[in-house]
Amino acid sequence: MVRRSMAFLVVLVGASLCSVCLVAWAGGPDDEPAVLKFKPVAPIPSLMQAQAEHFTAIMDYIATTDEKDPKRFEKMAHQAYILAELGNVNQFNKSYANWRGWAKAIRDEAKILAEAAQKKNQAAVRAAAKQINNTCKSCHDEYQ
Ligand code: HEC
Repeated sequence: MVRRSMAFLVVLVGASLCSVCLVAWAGGPDDEPAVLKFKPVAPIPSLMQAQAEHFTAIMDYIATTDEKDPKRFEKMAHQAYILAELGNVNQFNKSYANWRGWAKAIRDEAKILAEAAQKKNQAAVRAAAKQINNTCKSCHDEYQ
């Protein structure tokens, strides 16, 4: 009798552990962001063309007025976030410390520009654009 209830207990504990596992599994790793080794697919000149297009679009939105384009800051923020993402990706293209530093600077400066655009802060947007332009130049002076 004691043996039987022991066996029953073992089965019961086993079953409950199993259901904990199942619950953890169901809501588990597949729901988490993937941890993958990142490798850019675009050749550097293509990424650069895209950076130039987004930066030109930003400069055009800076130069226009709210009357001409009431959504210019909103559109500018989208462009700037994508430029930031391109800088983010470009960090993975080379291992030189200064390359990675300049690519990261594009990421951070474009993010600052995007946030300034969301606040419709024209002066801060202009200042960030100037920084970005200097960073593009610094890297080109060394690597282009
Ligand atoms: C971390 C370094 C780095 C940064 C930062 C950088 N560039 Fe470049 N860029 C390069 C290199 C290297 C090339 C030459 C690529 C080649 O020809 O293989 C290049 C080339 C270019 C080209 C010519 C592409 C072509 O068709 O051959 C353009 C346009 C360009 N960059 C725009 C920009 C703009 C705009 C920025 C800033 C928003 C920027 N780049 C920031 C490294 C950088």
